[in-house]
Amino acid sequence: MKSSSSGTTATSNRASGAGWACVRHFSEPAPIDCGKMGPMEPTKYIWFDGEMVPWADANVHVLSHALHYGTGIFEGIRAYETPQGTEVFRLTDHMARLHQSAKAYNMKLDWSVPELVEAAKEILRVNGLESGYVRPISFLELGAIGLNPAGARVRTAIIAWKWGAYLGEEGVLNGIRVKVSSWRRFPNTAFPNAKATGTYINSILAKMEAVQSGYDEALMLNQDGVVSEGSGENLFLVRGGVVYTPPIAVGCLDGLTRNAVMTLLAEEGYEIVEKTLDRSDLYYGDEVFFTGTAAEVTPVREIDDRPVGDGTPGPVTRVAQALYADLVAGKLGKHQDWLEYI
Ligand SMILES: Cc1ncc(COP(=O)(O)O)c(C=O)c1O
Repeated sequence: MKSSSSGTTATSNRASGAGWACVRHFSEPAPIDCGKMGPMEPTKYIWFDGEMVPWADANVHVLSHALHYGTGIFEGIRAYETPQGTEVFRLTDHMARLHQSAKAYNMKLDWSVPELVEAAKEILRVNGLESGYVRPISFLELGAIGLNPAGARVRTAIIAWKWGAYLGEEGVLNGIRVKVSSWRRFPNTAFPNAKATGTYINSILAKMEAVQSGYDEALMLNQDGVVSEGSGENLFLVRGGVVYTPPIAVGCLDGLTRNAVMTLLAEEGYEIVEKTLDRSDLYYGDEVFFTGTAAEVTPVREIDDRPVGDGTPGPVTRVAQALYADLVAGKLGKHQDWLEYI
């Protein structure tokens, strides 16, 4: 007998010597580890194809196509508390990108962009979340189990929860330590440039390697050996006052935070150049930072055990961080259309 993490006593899945024991059910949600952000607090409801389902009941069958083959698409979105109420940053753009990913994988979604936008707002409201992370996911469930997914039912869920700084508060303040991964980012000739669940096993290999080696995050090169992106972030490099970022064609995600930060810095008068960067550029940069919905704007203080600049977040990084923080907090007075109030 073994005590499950939910606190209920349950039989071990593998019975000693006498075949297989009965299925272990979790009556309470099990804690979910979120690395530097501590355990996730389950919320009351998950939006599941138009219904508000209690957190513990939002389950799928083990024969789901997506579980076997990674046939899912998803988004990561953040909601922020502002003086004007809770806003979901670029919610419509995120749902439009979900639809774009669906198109790339020939997945027919039952829900339109405006319907998903409303559902995301509703899941925040019913769970009483004034800020947090929103995770829409569409995936192939039952109906097909071969490699031809025709006939598999497409399910869509939206989960929301409270979430802190993805790479840790300390990382946001002082910068993170990054290692160039031995894993290359998959090329756009292997998968469409989309946010598909299965492709993230590539990022997961890189992230695991970096963390197990004592770094905070991985930086992936592409097949040609040029810089693509972090395991879940776009990269920016500042040199001589010019702000560089790799072009999407190298195989990085067309990040919405990347786009927002490029816009904000350009408005401040910085020169922004989409340029192919090689590994040595990383060592000669004055400043490097990551952007992403989860990571927001996170300074990189060290790459491959070499300090970036003087090893502390530089002035352009600080400007990008401050502009982005003000923007999402509803204090910038610009780009109001990116702030979608619930
Ligand atoms: C691989 C990867 N690159 C970049 C990003 C940043 O994209 P965004 O700013 O749209 O969140 C993400 C996050 O979704 C990601 O997973």
